[in-house]
Order: sequence, then structure tokens, then C-alpha cells
Amino acid sequence: MKRIGILGYPLSHSISPEFQQAALYHHEIKATFHRWEVTADDLNSFFETIRDSNFIGASVTIPYKEKCLDLVDEITESARLIGAINCIVNRDNVLVGHNTDGSGFIRALKTKYGFEPSDKKVLIIGAGGAAKAIAYSLIQEGISQLTIANRTITRAEELAQRLERNGLKINSIKLDKQTLVAPLSNVDLIVNTTSIGMKNGPDPQHSPIPPDLIPQNAIINDIVYNPIETPLIKAAKLKQAPTIGGLDMLVYQGVEAFELWTKTLAPETIMYDAAQKALRS
Ligand code: ATR
Repeated sequence: MKRIGILGYPLSHSISPEFQQAALYHHEIKATFHRWEVTADDLNSFFETIRDSNFIGASVTIPYKEKCLDLVDEITESARLIGAINCIVNRDNVLVGHNTDGSGFIRALKTKYGFEPSDKKVLIIGAGGAAKAIAYSLIQEGISQLTIANRTITRAEELAQRLERNGLKINSIKLDKQTLVAPLSNVDLIVNTTSIGMKNGPDPQHSPIPPDLIPQNAIINDIVYNPIETPLIKAAKLKQAPTIGGLDMLVYQGVEAFELWTKTLAPETIMYDAAQKALRS
């Protein structure tokens, strides 16, 4: 039997097996999607066990997105620039590392919401790994302005510096009410990449931007998917601003991975419905 799986530690929270297996069933692809909960000590030997022709590929999640860069045989240009992989593809026994976090995020924006990023003004909250992948992909799409707001300003500055090599001037600011006023007054898309608002996270009750500052005419995108309605999404809905929840990015990075593994068009709606069901159960 062919094998695909998700690699990470811990994996109890992951719903990727449910929505990927639903897609495999839908296309009658004879492969099983596994949970590979591997400790850091066992990571190198795990890579030896997957090197055979029955291994189709893997999703990679926390905490191995950076570590796996050195364990695969090749990486794509975008994964190299982002500095992380979230997907491995076995191409004739050569393990190739991809990053579909950013491309999945863009695909959800475009295909599901009809949002065309080129020439748009964007505010990203957070400066970690997810922010990097999203910012990189939005810049590739030709956005006209980017502000990165982070609790630790030095981290926002470092990310801005790294991304500025791509040619766009980026503002980095501290995440607080005063400094957010100006960028929030003239923006098309706001993306929360921090864990503020996440169930069992550091600050589950709050929105990363003060509810009274949420603009009505910008799209509010929270990449946190548990709960489906975060405090930010709730506050944005009260303001009647358009919203995009985090399940879309999760599912669409998986849609892109599925297509790389199987060279078959992914059943997007089936995957989204299976993900929603898994989250609710
Ligand atoms: P990921 O790879 O998921 O992006 P990460 O690299 O650990 O995770 O980044 C987490 C992001 O959430 C960072 O921007 C972090 O801010 P700092 O750089 O200041 O640490 C942000 N974050 C996490 N908890 C936060 C909190 N309680 N308040 C504000 N920002 C928070």
C-alpha cells in the first residue's frame, strides 16, 4: 500500500489525516494517510524508513518545518526563500521539499474569495514562520504596500529586511493600539498570523487588533482555525467587515500538497467539509 502522512510532534491536534484521507477516498487512490508523530531524536532514522517507492510524500508541521530543509534531497526556490518546508514529495526516490503554506493561502484568497492581491495594501500581524510564508507569497503576487506589526518589533524589522530583498518597501511597527491607527485607516487586507485568539493558546479571549479599530472595508483574515470563529473574526463580523477564517489556509495548503503528491485535481469542497467535521467532533 502506498503511504502519505503528516510529520510533526505533537500531532494530537492535527486534522490533516481526516481531510487528506477524504480526498484519497474520493479519487479512489489506493494510499493510506498516516500520523507520523516523531520525536526530534528519531527524525533522522524516520527519514531512512520513508525512502522507498511506496512513500508518496508527507505534510510537515510544527516543529519540523525548518529542520526538514536539511533532511530532504532538494528544495524548491520558494521554500528556500521562505526558509521552511511544509510538504515533501517523493519524485522517483528523490525527496523534494516544497512550501505550500503561502501558495495555499493565495489560492484560497483568489479562488474562494475572488480577492486579487496585486496592487493591494496589506497589514500582517505577527512575524513568525507563518507570517514569512504569507508575506513572501503576497509580495510575489505584486502587492503595493506591506506593514508588519509584531509584539517584538525587532522580529518584525528582521522579517521586513529579509523580504525587502524582493524590492518592496515594508513598514515594521510594534503591535499596539497607537501605532495600528494609521495602517488600519488605509488597508485592503489584514492577516493575523499570531496565536492570539487560538483555543488553548497564550491569549484565547482577545483579538490581536482592538475591535473598535477594525476597518469595515478591509478583508479580515485570521489564520487561526480553532475556534472557527476567533475573537478577531467575531469582532470583524460585528463591524460587517468581510472575513476569512483560518480553515481555508489549512485546507488549501493541503489541496496544493495533494495535487503535488497525486498529480490529480484536489476535491476542495470535500476536503473543506471533512476538515470542518473533524474540527467539530
Ligand atoms: P508560527 O510559525 O506559527 O508563525 P512563531 O514563529 O512562534 O509561530 O510566531 C508566533 C507569532 O505570534 C510571533 O509573531 C509572536 O510574537 P513575538 O515575535 O513577539 O513572540 C506572536 N505571538 C504569540 N503569542 C503572542 C501574544 N500573546 N501576544 C502578541 N503576539 C504573540
